[in-house]
Amino acid sequence: MADREIEEQAGALRAEIREHNRRYHVLDDPTISDAEFDELVRRLRALEEEFPELITPDSPTQQVGGGPITTLFAPVVHGVPMMSLDNAFDEAELRAWVERLHRRLAGAPPEGPPNGGPGARAARSGAARAGSMSSEDVGYVCELKIDGLAISIRYENGRYVRAATRGDGRTGEDVTENVRTLDQVPQRLGKAAPAVIEVRGEVYMALSAFGALNERQLEAGARPFVNPRNAAAGALRQKDPKVTASRELSLWTYQLGELDGGPGLSSHHETLEWMAGLGFPVNPEIRRVSGPDEVLAYGLHWQEHRHDLDYEIDGVVVKVDDLARRELLGSTSKAPRWALAYKFPPEERTTRLNDILVSIGRTGRATPYAVLEPVFVGGVTVGQATLHNEDQVKAKDVRPGDRVIVRRAGDVIPEVVGAVIAERPEGLEPWTFPTHCPCSIRSHLVRTEGEAEHRCIHPECPYQRQGAIEHFAGRGALDIDALGTKRISQLIAEGMVQSVADLYDLDWDRVEKLERMGALSTSNLRASIDASRSRPVERLLVGLNIRHLGPAGAEALVAAFGDLDRIMGASVEELAAADGVGQVIAESVQAWFADPANRELIERLRAAGLNFVGSATGAGNGGTKTLAGRTVVVTGTLEGFSREEAEAAIKARGGKSPGSVSGRTTAVVVGEGPGASKLSKAEELGVPVLDEAGFRRLLETGELPT
Ligand code: IVH
Repeated sequence: MADREIEEQAGALRAEIREHNRRYHVLDDPTISDAEFDELVRRLRALEEEFPELITPDSPTQQVGGGPITTLFAPVVHGVPMMSLDNAFDEAELRAWVERLHRRLAGAPPEGPPNGGPGARAARSGAARAGSMSSEDVGYVCELKIDGLAISIRYENGRYVRAATRGDGRTGEDVTENVRTLDQVPQRLGKAAPAVIEVRGEVYMALSAFGALNERQLEAGARPFVNPRNAAAGALRQKDPKVTASRELSLWTYQLGELDGGPGLSSHHETLEWMAGLGFPVNPEIRRVSGPDEVLAYGLHWQEHRHDLDYEIDGVVVKVDDLARRELLGSTSKAPRWALAYKFPPEERTTRLNDILVSIGRTGRATPYAVLEPVFVGGVTVGQATLHNEDQVKAKDVRPGDRVIVRRAGDVIPEVVGAVIAERPEGLEPWTFPTHCPCSIRSHLVRTEGEAEHRCIHPECPYQRQGAIEHFAGRGALDIDALGTKRISQLIAEGMVQSVADLYDLDWDRVEKLERMGALSTSNLRASIDASRSRPVERLLVGLNIRHLGPAGAEALVAAFGDLDRIMGASVEELAAADGVGQVIAESVQAWFADPANRELIERLRAAGLNFVGSATGAGNGGTKTLAGRTVVVTGTLEGFSREEAEAAIKARGGKSPGSVSGRTTAVVVGEGPGASKLSKAEELGVPVLDEAGFRRLLETGELPT
């Protein structure tokens, strides 16, 4: 690359970073995610490392934090600058930092300690000792990196006098009255207070408070906040402190600024203990550790458990514990050398919202979803994300064409949290819910009063059929594993399947001639459908797609009534009287079975030989304990029962189901792929061996084959 080009590239990156800094710190309205911002800084830094002559004193890499200050709040000059932190994004970067630190501590001459900072006194007495220490025994304090806003709170003679934001690191904004409203900020410090103390920490919004705030926003028809940090920033920078007070901000403190008086502190952990003793909130997860392995273990632990907390963290911070060593290490113009932020992989990214489409579920429910420019976030590539319903889209006001923030936290499904309004292209219209089902019938979508969802109510809607059959064949229902999404849509498109009952009347010669089918796939599909006939009746109930009825409700019904016919014949009152069945389920079940079309479906399923009888017949209803005092061992995979279901069926009849065969075993039930030792032991001891049909008989009658 030509010099000019590199210079231009660096200039462009700087301008971009400055603008994002302004948006983040001044306007509280960032247009890119933190991860994307970090990436820009990394690119600039890499360029400057390669071409150091390009570095300008005003480059964002040489400055701390937020850039210009607004005129909204009075400026406050920080006596001790509020520095930012260098970042490590992986293990190698963390280890490299530890090594640099060791090298400096072992040999490099100490840099002149800044005047008056905390620990300066300790540094003077301990510099020689620290400088000669072996690199092995550097102790660290690990802290959570709280995703909030840095704050400096000043006390003079034990009285709260001022609170300021970080601003550009040298000058912040006066938010004294707003911070005063935080419950955790002491107004007075008591007798042990030094003449001057500035505590530094992070103001944040707890997730519970954030959830409640966004609920209130939605109720008021206002746009929800996209994340707790933005909500906290908005709350802190209010002109009226009463508004701040109503937003429930919290605080963790983790550092000192100016200090005049107090005990002679020599380590960070002592400092934190002292701060806690003065009444400041110090995070309980802070740990003293030694060596990079323990730092890494702390980081990995919190990467995994970050969602156990009621506040957001975006990494951990590791700090050299010994204050004398800190003085030796000193700082760059931007960040201390004695601390490092170990950042977690991002859970939020921005991307383009290409479209909003609607999917029709098995009950006809129409769910809007975002079609996104694929983006890697939270460890996966996200191309689609649900938008739940019309009200959610309206509240978030996301429009096709917008830049949107996508979040995937932990195992939670990806979510579009909101639009980057500042980047909205001109002329984007608000999205409106489609009036018609996207299927070929194009029937009206209706939204009943009092409900949040739109529905397609056309009984022949192919999307509904597809959903209903997928659900019927799904693992939680009849588990027809050879019947996947594509196969189902093929059968529907060919007009061979309209309802689940059609699966049992298939013309197999025709199936075999379908595209991408053939003899093997056909026989697999056939076997898989055949096996579904003997699934437990509660699974059939789940598969019927009755609104509100899930696995727990289905099990409760079978336990109470024993078989499908009794459930069908029961009144709402009788159904609702069953343990674990509420009024909503009872009404829904009764209404479903009262529909003649559904009755017809049931009769077709009966004729097809599906199991209508509970394996625990009467067990929940005072039925006979066919296996009282007996022991049945199950080995291998059964078609109609999972291992848990088989054990539950045995226990429901008063029996036991241990993992090994002995002389006292009543019978061994053998499925596909049985354990060889159990089978040979049974033969050796003369214990009866049953197949699945024999097992069913045993459950029902208590009889063994003769
Ligand atoms: S120490 C001189 N400790 O992260 C060291 N910072 O990216 C000052 N932060 O500006 C910072 N949790 O706003 C420190 N436990 C923690 C922190 C923390 C969050 C923030 C802080 C800082 C930013 C740097």
